[in-house]
Amino acid sequence: MTIGVTGAGGQLGGQVLDNLLAGGVPAKEIVALTRDPAKLASYAAKGVAVKAGDFDKPAELATALQGIERLLIIPASDLRPGIRAPQHRNAVNAAKAAGVKHVIYISTAGTHRGQDLFTSHLETEQAIYASGLAWTILRMGMYYDNLWMGSIAYALSAGAYPATAGTAEGKVARSDVAAAAAALLAAKGHDGFLYHVTGPVALTPADVAKAIGDAFGKKVEAVIVTQDQYNGGLKAAGLPDFVVDAIGAIEAVRAKGQLDIVTHDVEHLTGRKALTLGEYLASTRHLAAAKAAAH
Ligand SMILES: NC(=O)c1ccc[n+]([C@@H]2O[C@H](COP(=O)([O-])OP(=O)(O)OC[C@H]3O[C@@H](n4cnc5c(N)ncnc54)[C@H](OP(=O)(O)O)[C@@H]3O)[C@@H](O)[C@H]2O)c1
Repeated sequence: MTIGVTGAGGQLGGQVLDNLLAGGVPAKEIVALTRDPAKLASYAAKGVAVKAGDFDKPAELATALQGIERLLIIPASDLRPGIRAPQHRNAVNAAKAAGVKHVIYISTAGTHRGQDLFTSHLETEQAIYASGLAWTILRMGMYYDNLWMGSIAYALSAGAYPATAGTAEGKVARSDVAAAAAALLAAKGHDGFLYHVTGPVALTPADVAKAIGDAFGKKVEAVIVTQDQYNGGLKAAGLPDFVVDAIGAIEAVRAKGQLDIVTHDVEHLTGRKALTLGEYLASTRHLAAAKAAAH
């Protein structure tokens, strides 16, 4: 069985490849698709077929997908409104044109018609349902890993973890999303199933603040702010408006409880328990020194 992974040059894509290889899938049965094949020379050296695959180049993508039976579509990273849904439709159409049998798409928890980040996932799911291909949807919670994009540094310097409501949320380690996706790719079946990959418990902002505080031996408390203050903080950190809109929309959806989803799907799919936030932070504490040194 030949397995394809789009976005193989990204962090999630790389971890999916590593899980497939570690799980015993022969390298010659894996096709890694990326915009920049040179970046994946180490996988090519192991026998993985590395091919150019860019959602913005659908004809080239359809050629590269030929011979693939099960394809993982990893969502693209461009958060400018109106970009991602057409990119993902290109990927679905290319898969169909190439004769791919089964598409596995990594969507998001809380997908709905609203801000573009969420809408693009909804429209991709709808394109897949309408495609006639066999499908599996893996909706992921928000990564624990996102905390390293400013929240941990802020929490450790200000002692505060800002949020707009005390609502709980099912976050997840990126590594568990990768392990679950690899398990789905390597097995047969799962046609027509929608999974939610999350950590083992829902976390309130107070829980997140405590976990950060415990991991680094500092006092950190959740602080409730307005949505305007929340978005203002992101803008003050230098993020462009479309990223502020996307992250602000995630917080608004979280505050309403739409990310308050916890399942055991990671364990069902991989056979091992999903990481807790505390375990994740313990395993990534070294990043604090690396990030500090980079500034
Ligand atoms: N749940 C969460 O909390 C969360 C957080 C961050 C991101 N995400 C989403 O999950 C995806 C994977 O996460 P990650 O951590 O691996 O992010 P990442 O390291 O930033 O990777 C970005 C991904 O986007 C792909 N990509 C960008 N433009 C593309 C195009 N034109 N055609 C095909 N692929 C394209 C990249 O593929 P190549 O470089 O190989 O071409 C790569 O896989 C992200 O792209 C984003 O949609 C989710």
